Amino acid sequence: MNILGGKVALVTGASRGIGFAIAKALHDGGATVVLTDINAKGVQASAASLERGHAMRCDVTNESDMQATVERIVAEFGGLDIAVANAGVARVQPISATTLAGWRYTTAVNLDGVFLTLRYAGAAMAARGKGGSLITMASVYAYASTPMMASYAASKAAALSLTKSAALEMRGSGIRVNAICPGFILTDLVAQSRAGFEQLLGISDFDPLIAKQGRYGTPEEIAKLAVFLASDRSSWCTGCGYTLDGGLRSSII
Ligand code: NAI
Repeated sequence: MNILGGKVALVTGASRGIGFAIAKALHDGGATVVLTDINAKGVQASAASLERGHAMRCDVTNESDMQATVERIVAEFGGLDIAVANAGVARVQPISATTLAGWRYTTAVNLDGVFLTLRYAGAAMAARGKGGSLITMASVYAYASTPMMASYAASKAAALSLTKSAALEMRGSGIRVNAICPGFILTDLVAQSRAGFEQLLGISDFDPLIAKQGRYGTPEEIAKLAVFLASDRSSWCTGCGYTLDGGLRSSII
């Protein structure tokens, strides 16, 4: 498979989990991939495992970091074709125990980070005039919620809305913008949230919720959709959220 041959991709939050699986799948599809993360050591190790993988430290909440990262990619690789705004965090807390600083931390990574990625990667693509594909990582939490996840759900709903606005603004430049909305994938983020849920909800088992989606999804299953959205095979797809959740959103029991 070489459907992304010659393309240059940026993936945020790519040191592990879904971000790394997406970076690897884009790479295996032929792209040169710049893996970025706030975790400099982690992302260096992950990038080193890919032949055309390159690591850059970038905190998605820091505007000058994001601007410099995109400028460096354009200077070193001649342009940017694909950007995946994947970095995200979750804090399992009731609203009553959430400080304003905690709220702002979650929304800074999950929403401001997506805004800055779309803003700077989109501008670089528009300036080059060859179109491109921007992909944001939303969640089933963009559509519905559970207790203890207010800041996460609000940030994901807003990220999906931002994706739609960006798609309409960038359509004239041939840049497509889509969101992926996964159900539960067993990454570090979910392993930590799971423990928090069980503690806060006073339950010993998170599995009934997982049963609604049949099983946990895998990062690789999410990455396959990212490759499709990054490639010309999705040439008329823009402004949409694509759910992968094993039927979770369709289930009432
Ligand atoms: P993860 O916790 O395994 O990986 C998140 C990555 O983001 C880490 O490498 C972390 O260092 C990085 N990161 C955190 N803050 C950052 C910052 N300020 N700047 C740059 N990088 C930063 O999480 P996972 O599960 O791989 O999640 C990836 C994305 O997928 C997130 O946006 C998450 O909300 C979303 N998602 C995850 C689901 C799941 O079930 N795991 C379901 C739906 C969406």
